Amino acid sequence: MNYIEIIKNIDKGQENPKALVKTYGCQMNVRDSEKLLGMLRDMGYGVADDESDADLVIFNTCCVRENAENKLYGHLGNFKEKKRTNPHLKLVLCGCMMQQDSVLVRIKSTFPYVDVIFGTHNLYRFPELLHSNFETGQTIIDIWQEAREIVEDLPSKREYPFKGGVNIMYGCNNFCTYCIVPYVRGRERSRKPAEILAEVTEMAHDGVSEVTLLGQNVNSYEFGFAQLLHKVAEIDGIKRIRFTSSHPKDMSDEVIGAIRDLPKVCKHLHLPFQAGSSRVLEMMNRGHTKEWYMALIEKIRCEIPEIAITTDIMVGFPGESDEDFECTLDVVRHARFSGAFTFIYSRRIGTEADKMENQVPEEASGARFKRLVEEVNRIQLEDNLKKLGQVVTVLADTVGKNGVLSGRADDNALVHFEGAQGLIGQYVKVKILSAKTFYLQGEMV
Ligand code: SAH
Ligand code: SF4
Ligand code: F3S
Repeated sequence: MNYIEIIKNIDKGQENPKALVKTYGCQMNVRDSEKLLGMLRDMGYGVADDESDADLVIFNTCCVRENAENKLYGHLGNFKEKKRTNPHLKLVLCGCMMQQDSVLVRIKSTFPYVDVIFGTHNLYRFPELLHSNFETGQTIIDIWQEAREIVEDLPSKREYPFKGGVNIMYGCNNFCTYCIVPYVRGRERSRKPAEILAEVTEMAHDGVSEVTLLGQNVNSYEFGFAQLLHKVAEIDGIKRIRFTSSHPKDMSDEVIGAIRDLPKVCKHLHLPFQAGSSRVLEMMNRGHTKEWYMALIEKIRCEIPEIAITTDIMVGFPGESDEDFECTLDVVRHARFSGAFTFIYSRRIGTEADKMENQVPEEASGARFKRLVEEVNRIQLEDNLKKLGQVVTVLADTVGKNGVLSGRADDNALVHFEGAQGLIGQYVKVKILSAKTFYLQGEMV
C-alpha cells in the first residue's frame, strides 16, 4: 500500500493544508528534515510560514545537550491551547530525543495531545504513521532501538537549489564518554559509494554545485573516505566539496592528500578536539592525546598552508581541573582556529561520563567557558583582520533584510557584500574591506 498516495486523499481538515518542520541539532537533522519536507510535499502539504499558519507541525529534536531538550518542552506546552482552538492541527515529534525512554515517559504523561512520535531509525515510515493517526485518532508511537536497513531514494525537498548535504554514513561507533549520539543514532552504517555518487550526480543535474558530505565521523567511512572525495570530485557540475564532521584519530594522510590535491575540495577542515588535557581526552575516550592533536594540526598546516581549521571545544568535563583547562587554552592559542563551537559539558543520562564522580560545579564551568570564548574570539578576529584586501570567491546563498547578500568563501568564512539578488547561487569575487569576529565585509570586484 502506498501511504503517500493514500494520505494525499485524506481530508486534512482544510483546503490546502500546510506543514511546518522545526529542526534542532546538527546537519544530520537538517538533512532528515529535508526528507520529511519531501514526504510532506508528496502527501499534498504546502509549506507554512510559521506555527499559526500550520495544519501540521513536526519537531525534529536533538538531545546532545540539556538545553536542546528544554527548548522543546517549552514549545510543546503552548500546543495544548493551539490544539483546542484548531482540532485539525497535527503535532508530530521525531529525532534523537525520542530515542530515549525517559523522554517518551515524560511526553506521554505531560503532553498527551501529541499525534505521532517516531525516532531516528524509521523516518521513512512517517507517512504510514500519520495515516494510522488519521484513521484512529490515537497517538501513534513507533520507536526502533536499532536501524534495520539503509532506506535509499526517499523524497526530499532541499533547502537550497544550489547547495546541499548528502549523508555518507549514519550513526557513530566512538562512544565518547560524554556523548549521547551513539545511543540515539545507533551503530555506524556507511552508504555504498555507488548510491552516494548517484545522488550527487542527480543533485548536480538539478543545479547543485556545492555538496557537503555528512556523517558523525566521515573519515571513518567504511569504503574509504579519500577515495570517495576523489570520486565525488569527478562529477561534472560539482564545483565545491565540503564534509563534516571529521575525527582527529581517523585523519589519514590519504584524506589530507585528497584535500590538498583536489581543487574542488574546500580548504576547510572541521576537526573537533573537545579538550586540551591528555588526561581529560583519555577520560573522554577520544583516542588521542594533546601532543598528537597538535602534531596533526602542524602536519595539516604544512601540507595545506591556506587551510582554515574549525573545531568543537567543551569545558567542565567531570574531573577537569584548572590546570587541565589551561591545556585547552594552550591548544586554542597554538592551533589558531578560524571558528569554534564552544560548549559547557552537559550530563546525559546513560553515558559513561554521567556516572563519573567529580562533576564540575556550574560556576567553575561558567568561568572557564567565558575565558575560552574570549580567547577563541580574540584569535578569530586577529586572523580575520589579516584577510583585509584579499579577494575571495563567495557562493552567495542568502539575502538579508537589509538587502545585503551573504555567502561562504572557500575556507567557509562568512562574507557579506552588496549585490543583486540574482547572484544567489552564483560564485562571486569579493574584495574584503572590513573584518569582524564572525564575518567579513567586502565589495564585488
Ligand atoms: N560527531 C561529531 C560531533 C557531534 S556532537 C564529532 O565528534 O566531531 C557536536 C559537539 O557537541 C561535539 O563535538 C561536542 O563538542 C558537543 N557535545 C557532545 N556531547 C556533549 C555533552 N554531553 N555536553 C556538551 N557538549 C557536548
Ligand atoms: Fe559523539 Fe564522539 Fe560520536 Fe562525535 S565521535 S558523535 S562526539 S560519540
Ligand atoms: Fe543532536 Fe542528534 Fe545531531 S542528538 S547533534 S541532532 S545526531
